[in-house]
Formats: sequence, structure tokens, C-alpha cells
Amino acid sequence: MSEQKIVVLGTGGTIAGTSAQAGDNIGYTAAQVGVEQLLAAVPGLQAAARGPLVAEQVAQIDSKDMDAAVWLALAQRCAQYLAQPDVRGVVVTHGTDTLEETAWFLHEVLQTAAKPVVLTCAMRPATALAPDGPQNLLDAVAVAAAEGARGVLAVASGKIYGARNVQKVHPYRVDAFNAGDAGPLGWVEEGRVRLAQDWPPAPELPAQGAIENIAPAALWPRVEIVVSHAGASGLLVDALVRDGVDGLVVACTGNGTLHRDLEAALLRAQGRGVRVVRSTRCAEGRVLPKPGDALPDSEGLSPVKARISLLLELLRQRA
Ligand code: SIN
Repeated sequence: MSEQKIVVLGTGGTIAGTSAQAGDNIGYTAAQVGVEQLLAAVPGLQAAARGPLVAEQVAQIDSKDMDAAVWLALAQRCAQYLAQPDVRGVVVTHGTDTLEETAWFLHEVLQTAAKPVVLTCAMRPATALAPDGPQNLLDAVAVAAAEGARGVLAVASGKIYGARNVQKVHPYRVDAFNAGDAGPLGWVEEGRVRLAQDWPPAPELPAQGAIENIAPAALWPRVEIVVSHAGASGLLVDALVRDGVDGLVVACTGNGTLHRDLEAALLRAQGRGVRVVRSTRCAEGRVLPKPGDALPDSEGLSPVKARISLLLELLRQRA
């Protein structure tokens, strides 16, 4: 077979951001530079790809505004490219703010047992004095082209993360991601991948059904996230139930505990058929279930990722 290609799909983010002043790292506008232009600014990218590089602009947004329609379009393009025998892997340029959510959505709906989808990003705009995007893009392409790479991955600041554990943990510093207790899967050093763990297990079939079978965005169930905190009440939950919410994820204190007033409202919601899942608001670790728990836990998923899994599960049950 001829050389396999790497496909880079652009979705926007700070990696494609520009500011009027080169030194301005916060007063910029995300999602301004096209993906072709991003690739052209990185020397050595072709060599890192070890074959042809193809670019396509799927969206051009600040990832705080990520929505179901863009997720569907992105996942469909990923699936179409991954199915082509001459494609080795896909790289997605993305904003940092919801990167972990897109990574988990793609993990849930794509077949990546044999080929990787690598998300990358930047904390500094393309016009910064020292932009981090070009190196991240180079590293992501090297990972996508690496022998044996598979699964949905994220690459930033020289580290490789799996979709399950990656999370943004800092709003400003360049090294803004970690993987909590799990740690990074490995590192990219001068274009070489050094793994600390194996590539993430990627099932032959996506956990939540293939992207081809996911309903249009307008038909997606509504799943909201609420937080337990000092002084919490059940008012929000009661209002959401009245408003027809389908599912609720609650970011609990500690090991899945809840303010008693919020807990009472969540139990009322569950009694009315709303699916309720407990996650933890702690940055690391997971809720350890106990016998007799009245509300199920998220099996280690953070609140934002538990929301995606619950949403897809509800969608699958409706089909
Ligand atoms: C975004 O998430 O699109 C903007 C912020 C960033 O990429 O760092």
C-alpha cells in the first residue's frame, strides 16, 4: 500500500486565535486562522506525518460554544476518514476549554481500535510572542503517525493523554492539562513517542453505538449538571424537572455525598423517571460506590464526561 496519510481537522480554539498585540495572551479572539494556515506555519510537519498531510476545516469556533451539531459533524468526518485504508490517523485542532468533552464524545462514538484520533490545542494564540500551538500540532501529528497508536488521545505540552482521564486543570499556564491519578500515557520528545502506559484500550465497537446511528442534534435528550455545595437546595433540580429535563449529573462533594436538600430533590427527580448520576467535584479520584447507594455513580467519569455518556445512553435507549 502507498504511504498512509494523516488528516488534520480544524475546529478553532486558541490555537487558531489572534490578538491585535503580539504580547497579549488573554485579550485575543479564538478561532480566526484556518487549519491550512496553521499547518503551513509548522516546519517539519510533513516529516512528522511520515506521509501525506490533508487538512479540512470542520468548524471555526471558540470551544466554550461547542454543541451537538459540531460534535456530530466532527465525529462523522473522523469516521469517514478512519474508514479509508490510506488514512493512518486523524488530528483535531480544538480549543482547550472543552477539549476533554469532545475527546470523550469521540471515544464513545468512534471505532478507534486500530487508528488514533489525536486532539491538540494551545493556551497561547497564534500571534503570541511564544505560541505553543505549533509544537503541540507537530507533536500531535507525530503521535497520529506513531506505530501502534490507537484510541482517542489528547496531546499538549509534550504529554499524551487518554480521553477518559484528560482534563484541563489550569486557566492560564501553558501546561494546562493533566490526567489526575492516571497520569499521562506518555510523552513526545523530539518527535519520538515514549510511552509510560499502553495505548488506551479501544473496543472494536464504540461503547455508545456508531456515529452513523446517532440522531440529529435536535433530538438529543437534555442532560444538565448540578453541583452540591454548602447551602445547596433542591430548587434548581425541581425547576429542571418541571422543565422536562431527561437526565441529571450531580457533581457531589467528596466520595459522592450530597447536601441533604439537594439529595431529596434528586431522589424525587429519579422517582419521576429522570436519570440521575453522581460524579465528584474533586479534581482527582472517583466516587467509590457503596452497597445500597440510592443514586448510581459515574464509574470514574468527571461530571462533564458523565453527562456525555448519560446523554448517549438515553439516546440509545430511545432508538
Ligand atoms: C477555546 O477553548 O476555544 C478557547 C480557549 C483555548 O483554546 O484555550
